[in-house]
Amino acid sequence: MSDRSAARAAVATVSTPDAGAIRHDALRTLEGAASRAELRIAVTAVLGKRSPLALAHRQLGSLDADARKEAGRVLAEVRAELEEVAERRGSELAAAERAAELEADRLDLTEVIPASVADRPVRGHHHPVSATRRSLEDVFVGMGFTVAEGPEIETDWYNFGALNMPPAHPARGMWDTFYLELGEPESTVLRTHTSPVQIHLLEEALASGGLPIHAVMPGRCYRRDTPDARHLATFHQIEGLVVDRAVTFADLAGTIETFTTAYFGSDIHARLRPAYFPFTEPSAEFEITCTLCRGAGCRTCSQTGWIELGGCGMVDPAVFDAVGIDNEEWQGFAFGFGIDRCVQMRHQIADMRLLTENDIRFARQF
Ligand code: PHE
Repeated sequence: MSDRSAARAAVATVSTPDAGAIRHDALRTLEGAASRAELRIAVTAVLGKRSPLALAHRQLGSLDADARKEAGRVLAEVRAELEEVAERRGSELAAAERAAELEADRLDLTEVIPASVADRPVRGHHHPVSATRRSLEDVFVGMGFTVAEGPEIETDWYNFGALNMPPAHPARGMWDTFYLELGEPESTVLRTHTSPVQIHLLEEALASGGLPIHAVMPGRCYRRDTPDARHLATFHQIEGLVVDRAVTFADLAGTIETFTTAYFGSDIHARLRPAYFPFTEPSAEFEITCTLCRGAGCRTCSQTGWIELGGCGMVDPAVFDAVGIDNEEWQGFAFGFGIDRCVQMRHQIADMRLLTENDIRFARQF
């Protein structure tokens, strides 16, 4: 054998692609991947540019035409098979990882803690928003108020019109409103505040001789707002309405002061700031010291040290007129504030959105 033919024979030996061995090793590598991350590495190792398969492909050139054709066909078959296996393995691993995730997050709803572990089985409790709604009701009932409720779906008249906002009144823009596709366009809304319940109460009082009124009205409200640390699109308010003879702004201020101290404690200060609402005159916004920073300024209170809880004021005579109550004989004050804000401030929750995420680990802390 000449030197040249010996060299050619040697090349031919090393480069004869042993498709069987390549296939066997590659399958083992793919099947051995225990996670999708490992599979990605395995796929590169067996199908990538530097894989034995790719190498064998590059060496086809040293074979004669017939052998090259045959070996090429075999290598292509191996590649197709490996690709299929890799894909199947990928879906298997994805399913297994998803199952493991679900298992890790699973709540055992049948779990009973034996008496030896706990004196009594663990019971659920109210969501902090419901619990707060109840304690706010208690505070006001203690002050002589009754509790009333109204519908969450309102006509334009209850949500705006009767509250001294005739159609196209610019103040309507203060509330980003969800409209229902019901009746005339924009005639039916998801209430943007609990103030329309004032109107229902005034109408009832007028029909049944129910004046004077001392009532609070808690409930859910809706606004087309982007949720952030202090806002939710679905939230809760508690409305207050007092209608009597000779009611003054001092009564309103005293009521708010009493409520704040009863609910937040005497070290939290409240302040009233002049504001505008179409259904009260004069009107004010009331704010309390931010409980997260104690007034120093933080992200939750936008560095102001104060958190706005709600609005209030003396009932505008136009509201009495809208339902036909004599505004010479009767005066009133009203207020409305956010229950979710109260929860947030009472429990120092930096982001209000936590209240709606329904994470049991959050809810358990209350
Ligand atoms: N309804 C007002 C609001 O949601 C608050 C408010 C209630 C103001 C009662 C004055 C009187 O913004």
